[in-house]
Amino acid sequence: MPLHVIVGTQWGDEGKGRFVDWFAARAAYAARYNGGDNAGHTVTVGKRIFKLHLIPSGILQPGVIAVLGNGMVIHPRTLLEEMDRLIQAGIAINPERIRISYAAHLVTPAHQALDKAQEATRGKSSIGTTGRGIGPAYMDKASRHGLRMADLLQEDFVERVGDHLAEANRALQRLGAPTLDTAAICEEARSWAARLKDYVTDASLELNRALQEGKTVLAEGAQGTLLDLDFGTYPFVTSSTTTAAGALTGLGLGLTAARDARVTGVVKAFQTRVGSGPFPTEILDDLALRLRGTGANPWDEYGTTTGRPRRVGWLDGVLLRYSARLNGLTEFVVTKLDILSGLETVKICTAYRSGNQTVTDLPYGATNLTAFEPVYEELPAWQENISVVSRWQDLPAAAKNYLERVQELVGVPLRMVSVGSEREQVIKVSHVGKGQRFFRCGMRSA
Ligand code: IMP
Repeated sequence: MPLHVIVGTQWGDEGKGRFVDWFAARAAYAARYNGGDNAGHTVTVGKRIFKLHLIPSGILQPGVIAVLGNGMVIHPRTLLEEMDRLIQAGIAINPERIRISYAAHLVTPAHQALDKAQEATRGKSSIGTTGRGIGPAYMDKASRHGLRMADLLQEDFVERVGDHLAEANRALQRLGAPTLDTAAICEEARSWAARLKDYVTDASLELNRALQEGKTVLAEGAQGTLLDLDFGTYPFVTSSTTTAAGALTGLGLGLTAARDARVTGVVKAFQTRVGSGPFPTEILDDLALRLRGTGANPWDEYGTTTGRPRRVGWLDGVLLRYSARLNGLTEFVVTKLDILSGLETVKICTAYRSGNQTVTDLPYGATNLTAFEPVYEELPAWQENISVVSRWQDLPAAAKNYLERVQELVGVPLRMVSVGSEREQVIKVSHVGKGQRFFRCGMRSA
């Protein structure tokens, strides 16, 4: 079985966690390849809701080995708290079930403090980061003086943490921000090493072996394509490679691992974004409140990590096509279709206009989006409660029509649609398209 990558096609929060959980039921490994605890993946299993920030959502499937790849930046405190919460929920957590790449970088309280202090100095042009220290941790990685998981195994680990904190305190002073209690953090670092060192391993070696033995490796992307450091809406992006290609560098896999890869793009039925940055199809009237929800439901549009209300808008087909291309999608799944039930009409942006020019491909990627105005197609909506629908043929015609249009824009087959937060509220799709055309793309069944 090949590598199977699950990637967000928008600005994150597409609902990847629930599909990773779904596909992990058939996988040997679930491996995160980028980001840190800026991510928040929610999975509902029966009456229980799991919010995961660092550990791959695949851990909720018994028998799956969860891998935290070298492309990640890991705050040991968050990781240990997350492990403890899972243990309390009865999930087996031990070095047999979790592997951490020796080459993953550490996020420390100093990175978090620097992240917040740097954002404060940016004023109006702040990125709206999650404040989790992600940017500063990747900066240390790129400038080659970061702390890595392998360092937990070294005798001088705590001393190195002390040096890192001293340097960070000097930077915080320069930014006019409060400094950190070095002794207390060094003491805490001692416990990180004691509790995590048995989990540190060469994850790349194990994953390559697993693929050679024909096992399925599910690579779980965090955030979304439009937050990618290179191809997202720079500078309003995160600091890692969020696209499917990141699965290779972020897990230590060679190019040949991608030969037969299945790449599933997760598309929310409408667009959301948290933090600053351009958003051409943003809705700013009362409809935004309706799509966002009140926050009473854990699936409402409020950040899993920060609790911030998400900005909402119509599905952006131009950015979706861009995302399909960048990730080399072989298929896609749609989440939260049920939220669109009961609207008067639904809109999809199919092109951008600038002056008298209309484009469907972006001339300079996702940069300069403010120069464009979206061109919409308005489609009939449906009034039925679709959260109880479990078969494609039982969906209202207008809902099927909407999905068919989305599929035309993405250009690869639609495989599944989620219509509620429960693990089983998923419609499998084997035939979508004008004339009920069957897709035979040589894909393996889910
Ligand atoms: P950072 O990753 O904390 O540096 O934040 C950079 C940008 O990415 C901000 O706009 C964040 O709101 C956004 N961001 C980071 N992680 C996520 C996520 O998991 N979901 C959605 N947005 C995210």
